[in-house]
Amino acid sequence: MCGIIGYVGTQPALPRLLTGLSRLEYRGYDSAGIAVADDSGICAHKRQGRLSALEKDVKQRTFTQKTGIGHTRWATHGAPDDINAHPHMSFDGRFAVVHNGIIENYAALKAELQQEGVTFRSDTDTEVVAHLLAKHYKGDFRRAVAETVARLNGAYALGILCRDFPHELFAVRRASPLVVGVSADGGYIASDVTALLPFTRRVMLPEEGDMVRVTADGIAVWEESGKLVNRPFEEVTWSAATAEKGDYPHYMLKEMWEQPAALAATLAPHLENDGIRLPELAGFPACGWVGLRRICMVACGSAYHAAMVGKYVVEKWARLPVEVDLASEFRYREQPLDERTLTVVISQSGETADTLAALRKAKRCGSPVLAIVNVTGSTIARESDRVLYTQAGPEVAVATTKGYTTQVAMLFLLGGFLARQRGELTAEAERRLTKDLRELPALTQETLTVATVGAAKWLSQARDVYFIGRGIGYAVALEGALKLKEISYIHAEGYAAGELKHGTISLVEEGTPVVVLGCGEVAPEKTLSNLREVTARGARVLAVTTADLCEIYGEAAEVLTVPTVSPQLSAIPVAVVLQLLAYYTALERGCDIDKPRNLAKSVTVE
Ligand code: G6P
Repeated sequence: MCGIIGYVGTQPALPRLLTGLSRLEYRGYDSAGIAVADDSGICAHKRQGRLSALEKDVKQRTFTQKTGIGHTRWATHGAPDDINAHPHMSFDGRFAVVHNGIIENYAALKAELQQEGVTFRSDTDTEVVAHLLAKHYKGDFRRAVAETVARLNGAYALGILCRDFPHELFAVRRASPLVVGVSADGGYIASDVTALLPFTRRVMLPEEGDMVRVTADGIAVWEESGKLVNRPFEEVTWSAATAEKGDYPHYMLKEMWEQPAALAATLAPHLENDGIRLPELAGFPACGWVGLRRICMVACGSAYHAAMVGKYVVEKWARLPVEVDLASEFRYREQPLDERTLTVVISQSGETADTLAALRKAKRCGSPVLAIVNVTGSTIARESDRVLYTQAGPEVAVATTKGYTTQVAMLFLLGGFLARQRGELTAEAERRLTKDLRELPALTQETLTVATVGAAKWLSQARDVYFIGRGIGYAVALEGALKLKEISYIHAEGYAAGELKHGTISLVEEGTPVVVLGCGEVAPEKTLSNLREVTARGARVLAVTTADLCEIYGEAAEVLTVPTVSPQLSAIPVAVVLQLLAYYTALERGCDIDKPRNLAKSVTVE
């Protein structure tokens, strides 16, 4: 979704803005723009389409300005064209604004401004902010910003330039992500740390409602009440290189190959001798682990699919009922929640708007909230009662890979931990689980070499692909189908193997690819019957199975085998094969793998 960047310092702003914007591309966007300022005024450029179009435009001139803001826009209000692209200028040309989020009361504000004679150029909600700034401005930049944001409802991270103060910028944050960075050559704002890594690792995360002034000399922060406050800066551990492609043709491929290391980094700190340790959960929840009645796992997209794996694992190991909900449904459903229901929110970015709203709802209802998050200091991490951090490092490809598998790994840890706390896991079983978890990274490394290119070639010709499995296999089937459709644009669906015959099997024709997942421990012979049912109707079956089950599924047209692992843990190697399949299928079809059409990495609107 929209990304913002800003710089004020001793060096030309434009190259920094363009580098920052290129680091924000992964969030998903359909237009880009910049505005730079100096004593002669503000100069803005914006273009529909890829950042390269904007770069081509601006590279024809020399820009020496040392103050600027930039934006990648993922259209919500108004078409993705040049006019709706950010920055937006105020009617008097004094202010330029970039915005991430949605101004919910923009229609009322727009009507008010129009009545006062303001003409709007774009269809965006953001333009009202620019005009309000001009309306409230009486010579004091900070005051105009404060009076403007006091009128706004909704979610926003704003970057603002004022022609009269060309050596500073203001930023404000409410329910949208914003990071502030400092380096020897000046100060920065950005939607996420990844955009700042080429310049600095010294960052500060503003609180809700904070207003930040950036100048070449430093940062000043006012909290919502107007009081000047000191916010702590910290060094991020991610290096610039971890968010670069290196020799890989795509981020997605690089990130798939980073999975063994990401899994090791996520698991190892929690595996001690013969047991699982989660010190983050000490003294939590208030009712105690035995007092818990159930768990609600809430997430969106692939994180929701990780939660599905978590459900099977926690119910089996800890004997605790688990409901899994899409965050966008959970937040409006009138379900009973109380202090004995643990809500587990799962989010790679920690900024997904619906997941955040679900978290807030759970807290309002008195449910203790545990977050599984990848991005340190993200809003979901900050607002939850407790956080378990996955250690995937920065994930840039829109289609998540290491983000998802590290979430699944963290759910294995949580499942084992809960089982032990609730007296459902013997010391011996915990020892075995710990050993299996330790082996997962090496096993994943082995899985990455499974030859998927041939199968991907025939999948790439398909119109529809169905993924079926039982238990854990069903949960992974959902993720496999999502991976394929999001990057290759082939219609794909994940189904519980036993459910296909209740409707969807009518779509199976001669040659339709069906991917049968032979993993988990649930009734392989039943899944085999399902394989036969579709084969009898002409389907061409690709089986993806653990080595111990490969004979059972030997009648498939093609079998891809991953190393044998304990049934629940097979979710990870099987998912890795499905990631590879999706990747090579999309490659075969010439798709824009890292930036699929219409998708955003970080979905900060509801
Ligand atoms: C977007 C991404 C998905 C991701 C989902 C949830 O749709 O494209 O890959 O699974 O958001 O994101 P989160 O950051 O909350 O895990």
